[in-house]
Amino acid sequence: MNSLYEPTTIAGLALQNRIVMAPLTRNRADAMGVPKPFVRDYYAQRAGAGLIVSEGTQTSFAGQGYCRTPGIHTPEQVAAWKSITDAVHARGAKMFMQFMHCGRIAHPLNRQIPDAPVAPSAVRPAGQMWTDQQQLQDFPTPRALETAELPALANEFVTAARNAIAAGFDGVELHAANGYLLNQFLASNTNLRTDGYGTTLQGRIRFVVEVVEAVAAAIGAARTAIRVSPGHMFNDIVDANPLETHSALLDALPTARMAYVHVMLPDAFSPQLNNAGDPQAVLPTLRPHVKGALIAAGNLTAASAAAMIESGLIQLAVFGRPFIANPDLVERLKGGAALTAPREQLFYTPDAEGYSDYPPLVA
Ligand SMILES: Cc1cc2nc3c(=O)[nH]c(=O)nc-3n(C[C@H](O)[C@H](O)[C@H](O)COP(=O)(O)O)c2cc1C
Repeated sequence: MNSLYEPTTIAGLALQNRIVMAPLTRNRADAMGVPKPFVRDYYAQRAGAGLIVSEGTQTSFAGQGYCRTPGIHTPEQVAAWKSITDAVHARGAKMFMQFMHCGRIAHPLNRQIPDAPVAPSAVRPAGQMWTDQQQLQDFPTPRALETAELPALANEFVTAARNAIAAGFDGVELHAANGYLLNQFLASNTNLRTDGYGTTLQGRIRFVVEVVEAVAAAIGAARTAIRVSPGHMFNDIVDANPLETHSALLDALPTARMAYVHVMLPDAFSPQLNNAGDPQAVLPTLRPHVKGALIAAGNLTAASAAAMIESGLIQLAVFGRPFIANPDLVERLKGGAALTAPREQLFYTPDAEGYSDYPPLVA
């Protein structure tokens, strides 16, 4: 018997198996951040998973960075998500929503409001991002958040969490990985604040801890999760000591009562690591700092996932890219079937093609 396919319970949440669909930004929302009708089909097709984590979803128009990403801050968005969670629940999976405030990883052309993108500090990321209007564009320099703005920003996550619960989600995952706003607070190269919310280790973790506590107080710690990616350099994140930063963060969070801690392994896309040392050391280093469920993503296979679960290193195994072209991924892994390769050129395009049109092996 392979534990990967066995039901389990984490933080009181009964799951039909231990396979999680990773958050995957696919840019299939309309200009007002409402998921298009075929988004429901896409998630329902993949609800053989025990748990689905939604694509990164903005908590306000100010949190948007990319074109065509969805939100959870208007009644139309909440209604669209409710039809999606209903369809996912009907097939037996649970669903969390990932909250993605992009911070400095944003371009004005991708946003519905004229305000400049905000970040802990006015540090411009190296590199460029896609805009539908003018293709690749340099990142602008963000505006540094005022200290007085931080309580309202934390409250934005609380309101979004209440909206997500109203939309039928089983919980929310705060995106503190991959270089977005919460990760920008954590990392030493993006947080130069001197107001108690930066510079020192305790200062850099403070806002993230406050947001988690505020969301947990509103919807319950058991419905609150966090995603981190120590050592991952995506979006120009270069922390001086990512394992120290994340160990301190996890020690400060109520992980015993939270739904789970989700780690994206730093070598998921590139062997280039930021001071995290050996990628194999990330989970064993963080494990003692997580008092509840630890889950992980990054090039897992059925065999590696089962081994990590059986050794107690992680409780759930998270798959990202394999779910894109294999809606029935759980069945395929279980049966040892070949996996279809995704069409990468359609990852972020606006239509159903390359999205909800991948067939299962047995229709
Ligand atoms: C198209 C695409 C979109 C992604 N979008 C997100 C996202 O919105 N939020 C996030 O935390 N990670 C995102 N990721 C990272 C995945 O969640 C996952 O951690 C990563 O792909 C590694 O797992 P894998 O090797 O199984 O694909 C994305 C990855 C891909 C390929």
